[in-house]
Amino acid sequence: MGRRSDWDDELSKDTKQRRHNRKRRKMNADEEFIDEESSKFIRSLDNTKGSSWMAEKRYKQMFNEIEEGLSGVLGDGPFEWVDRRVFDAVFDRLTLLSLYKLMKSGIIDTLDFPIARGKEAHVFHGTGESGPVAVKIFHTSNAVFKNLVQYIEGDPRFGGLKRRHRDLVDIWVRKEFRNLSRLEKWGLAVPKPLGVHKNILVMEYLGTDVAPSPRLRDVKVNDAKAVYEELLEFLAISWQKANMVHGDFSPYNIMWHGDRPVVIDVGQAVVQSHPKSQEFLVRDVTRLVEWANKAGLETDLAEAMYDVLEMDLSHVEEKIVS
Ligand SMILES: Nc1ncnc2c1ncn2[C@@H]1O[C@H](COP(=O)(O)OP(=O)(O)OP(=O)(O)O)[C@@H](O)[C@H]1O
Ligand SMILES: [Mg+2]
Repeated sequence: MGRRSDWDDELSKDTKQRRHNRKRRKMNADEEFIDEESSKFIRSLDNTKGSSWMAEKRYKQMFNEIEEGLSGVLGDGPFEWVDRRVFDAVFDRLTLLSLYKLMKSGIIDTLDFPIARGKEAHVFHGTGESGPVAVKIFHTSNAVFKNLVQYIEGDPRFGGLKRRHRDLVDIWVRKEFRNLSRLEKWGLAVPKPLGVHKNILVMEYLGTDVAPSPRLRDVKVNDAKAVYEELLEFLAISWQKANMVHGDFSPYNIMWHGDRPVVIDVGQAVVQSHPKSQEFLVRDVTRLVEWANKAGLETDLAEAMYDVLEMDLSHVEEKIVS
């Protein structure tokens, strides 16, 4: 009997070893496969300061999975735009992880080309489940902040500042998403919000296959009066119904799409209970009146203010949004 179990032991040791070897071989093959599959782009990152994390095995695999979707912004698309510096500035590790998440969940299929670069964000053309999308990627570090951070990080009393900055950015992005949703619910012309994850906001894309729609400041409208009235009603519905004020209502933040104004950039919009909401409202109405007067109308600020506060909006109802 004793012998038998010795044999068993020997056998199972062997089997174990064989299994172990087989597993090792398979892992090596997987790694080789991943290495082979890595594009030149990823391989070139190996020695690059700041991006070397992308060459780590776990990220390589993730990157391989979404690389095709990112080919536009890697310079393979029709727009040879993204040089390495910009790439490094926009797509840091956590941003790529967020993109990965949004791609896995189907909200984004591809990221194609950059539309605009603002102070706070880059906006890209992409595609999603049901057509083109605009992808607004917020910068997670900015020059001003970086400058301050050197005086604070490293001081043990104020640890985790970078982390907290990211948290703030994420909150800001979620705020823009929620503001868009609230305005959309009241039937207002804003891009439909489609998804949000960390510092990335996905929304309806306004434009053609090759270029975004122009901003109101860049077009000469035929019927300025109609546009003025539509925008005045936008402010009135926002205030009276959605209890919100945009806060940066300038012709730079209004796009001209399908012969109509569509309002964007609502991250800073606040609710009426905000201590500065009335001040913001006056400023927004002033901006609109200035635009109207430049477009040849004769509008009066006091009258416009009165309209925004008192306009009869009994016909406006909250929508059920899918
Ligand atoms: N949904 C969209 N569809 C198409 N283009 C868009 C969309 N949203 C934004 N854009 C483009 O991106 C630009 C910047 O967008 P937005 O104003 O939201 O970002 P921002 O970072 O706040 O920019 P800025 O600092 O210049 O105000 C817009 O002027 C417009 O050209
Ligand atoms: Mg803007």
